[in-house]
Amino acid sequence: MSTITNSTNIFWQECQIGKPDRQKLLNQKGCVVWITGLSGSGKSTLACSLGRELHTRGKLSYVLDGDNLRHGLNKDLGFKPEDRTENIRRTGEVAKLFADAGLICVASLISPYRRDRDACRAMLPDANFIEVFMNMPLHLCEARDPKGLYKLARSGKIKGFTGIDDPYEPPLNCEIEIKQENGVCPTPTAMAGQVVSYLENKGFLRS
Ligand code: ADX
Repeated sequence: MSTITNSTNIFWQECQIGKPDRQKLLNQKGCVVWITGLSGSGKSTLACSLGRELHTRGKLSYVLDGDNLRHGLNKDLGFKPEDRTENIRRTGEVAKLFADAGLICVASLISPYRRDRDACRAMLPDANFIEVFMNMPLHLCEARDPKGLYKLARSGKIKGFTGIDDPYEPPLNCEIEIKQENGVCPTPTAMAGQVVSYLENKGFLRS
């Protein structure tokens, strides 16, 4: 019996040049920095700042931004729980490929459900998945409201908005937590610095 709906009779193709070779070429180790948090918590700001900082240090990174992916790869998905799950699954698979390419892949998505983030973690060796929690209070994200979406959600014009009428499940044991100190948010450079220090200490910035 043959089927065209699922992949059957498929094989894994190995090439001569593998991840260790690419890592040596780049003098770094491929990994995934997964940034999770509410809309308006500063995920994209950190992702861009981190990308800039790594670039300055001669390290190759690539940002997978939730909003941007939803313009292409994930344009068929909405915000129902099962769509978010598929959004995270696909992004996790792409991030895994980038890490295998030897890059420091920075994924920046709300990724509100713990189970979905854990499924992405399980795609990689545990140490290569670095979960960064943007631990910013809802009232702060809502006050920022950079896209005006919280206002729309509060007035009922957007249904199922994360933090308003759809849940956000904070990580239980993330590698890095970014939060306010004495009511002050860290600067983009300071946030990036926190992640870069982690990567440096764990040996990701050399091959
Ligand atoms: S996720 O929940 O599936 O991880 P993702 O990070 O890709 O979300 O996209 C979130 C972005 O979509 C937000 O920054 C916001 O601009 C927009 N958005 C539109 N509708 C919603 C919604 N119902 N909940 C959250 N974000 C939404």
